[in-house]
Amino acid sequence: INYCTRILAARETALLKTHNCGELNKTHVGQQVTLAGWVDRRRDHGGLIFIDLRDREGLTQVVFNPQIAKECHEKATELRGEYAVTLRGEVSLRPKGSENSKLPTGDVEIVARNMTILNASKTPPFYINEEVEVEENLRLKYRYLDLRRPHMQQNIILRHRVVKFMRDFFDARGFLEIETPILIKSTPEGARDYLVPSRVHPGKFYALPQSPQQLKQLLMVAGLEKYFQIAKCFRDEDCRADRQPEFTQIDVEMSFAEEEDIIQMTEEMIISLVEKLKPGLKFTKPFPRLSYAEAMECYGCDKPDLRFGVQIKDLSDIAAQTELSVFKSVVAAGGKVKAICVPGCGNYSRSQLEDLTQLARSFGAGGLVTIALGTVPGNLDGLTMEMVKSAVAKYLTLDQVMNMARRFNANMGDLLLIVAGKPRLAATVLGELRKEMGHRLKLADPNVLSFSWLVDFPLLEIDEKTGGLQPVRHPFTMPVEEDIPLLAIAPDKVRSRSYDIICNGYELGGGSLRIYTRDLQKKVFQARGYKDEEIEELFGHMLEAFDYGAPPHGGIALGLDRIVMLMAGVETIREVIAFPKNQSAIDLTLNAPSPVTEEQLAELHLNIRNE
Ligand code: AMO
Repeated sequence: INYCTRILAARETALLKTHNCGELNKTHVGQQVTLAGWVDRRRDHGGLIFIDLRDREGLTQVVFNPQIAKECHEKATELRGEYAVTLRGEVSLRPKGSENSKLPTGDVEIVARNMTILNASKTPPFYINEEVEVEENLRLKYRYLDLRRPHMQQNIILRHRVVKFMRDFFDARGFLEIETPILIKSTPEGARDYLVPSRVHPGKFYALPQSPQQLKQLLMVAGLEKYFQIAKCFRDEDCRADRQPEFTQIDVEMSFAEEEDIIQMTEEMIISLVEKLKPGLKFTKPFPRLSYAEAMECYGCDKPDLRFGVQIKDLSDIAAQTELSVFKSVVAAGGKVKAICVPGCGNYSRSQLEDLTQLARSFGAGGLVTIALGTVPGNLDGLTMEMVKSAVAKYLTLDQVMNMARRFNANMGDLLLIVAGKPRLAATVLGELRKEMGHRLKLADPNVLSFSWLVDFPLLEIDEKTGGLQPVRHPFTMPVEEDIPLLAIAPDKVRSRSYDIICNGYELGGGSLRIYTRDLQKKVFQARGYKDEEIEELFGHMLEAFDYGAPPHGGIALGLDRIVMLMAGVETIREVIAFPKNQSAIDLTLNAPSPVTEEQLAELHLNIRNE
């Protein structure tokens, strides 16, 4: 009843809101307006009370003057931060000298005549009106308050605009948005499935989709030709800055398409998206392309941040000539000695270098050799062995150091970080060090989006843990035709017709052409050691569909959360998801996961094992 009377009281004056808090300016002076929102700040100046009223669109100053509206002024004394109010008054010019040029509404203020307090607020657990650092778990517990903060509202608004843009983009090109189910079948697709027990089928489970991969392919068999979906996906993986158990893909599939059709269209979409919504961000077009092998060789990972160089170089030939036994033995055993050159870090202290060595170890290296090319910047030609700082200097000649340095076009004062080991390991450790040093030295321009395509992926790779063959992408990826005979003899040499789009060190999306015949799909499973019965049991539905005139098709899925994160210029996807899980996969707003009752478990035919 209380609520209703308050609403009715507000209605007597007019609507709860005729304008928003971001739109009033000089042109509205003299108009009677009704605003509604939250008290951002209140200042009591003896006779006058000022508040900044905030809503999604901005702030407007309101003044309560006892000489003009006594009752309203009295009510304003009750106001505190985050009270929800609606008020009516006249738009006036602020007195000369009190304008706020930082606010779009900064020339005007509302002289309040009536006000209704719609709801009071407790003191929030953190400031809503100030950009202060707040512990993330507290933010997530009170996410509804966190989301009230202007920068979070901007992120959510940007996300909406991105989705709207993409829907319009695909619609204009004849794509249909089709929903696919959330309760599907558990099949090995890469990550761990989230399972949902069936009540009606004891002992059986649905899985939540890791992606709508199989369903979108079946839509192609169904003749729908062009599909997209803003799709929720679920993967039971550890959370990271760019990874959530539940995330959103822009999922796309097309029949009668080749790689170029999908790559070109995706590129066009990303370019027009960024140009429209974030015109201040710089990028190169067309997006450069990089082979998987090149990326691993030069950057030690398949999603390098290309905003800065610091490429990995192979120094094995020079290292083998030195007197350092670890270099010589690694090279003799078929390993590699690889390095990066970090600009201007020759003056690193012993403890800074120790710290880097620990870091290299944590990434799996046996150790790290560092060579400082002198401690001050200058032309390399002036370098002498006395200037070289390295724990292994006595095993090196000046010529060898110079040759290493020249491979990088290094300068005096630079620091070489060298890892010896198995080729892949040396590269990945250096890839991580490159990332870390890029971050520490702020080598990446925050206003650049370095999009590029990664191509020429292998189809299968050896899983280091199990020794078995795993698909680099997913099991439905089309192999390069001329490599198909290799499936039976050297399956790890087969290339795939797939592509990834990467940006600033993140994988934004990936896709491929798909297998669309039973024979080839079976061959790929067989190459991975699947028995016929297993193939039938897990993927029989796909093979059968391929028997009915399945068209050639292919597609891509882009990580919406990651795209919005990069466009918003924030560090984690949690900043652009309304209700994300925290680092331990907990939803702190709702407190999930949570225990369920014995009855619920019994209904689902489940017992909890206490281990
Ligand atoms: P993929 O597994 O590469 O491909 O996923 C596509 C994109 O989804 C995003 N992504 C994630 N984002 C946040 N949290 C996660 N846990 C997460 N996992 C993936 C990434 C990634 O590039 N079905 C195929 C696509 C296809 O072949 O069409 C697929 O899902 O940005």
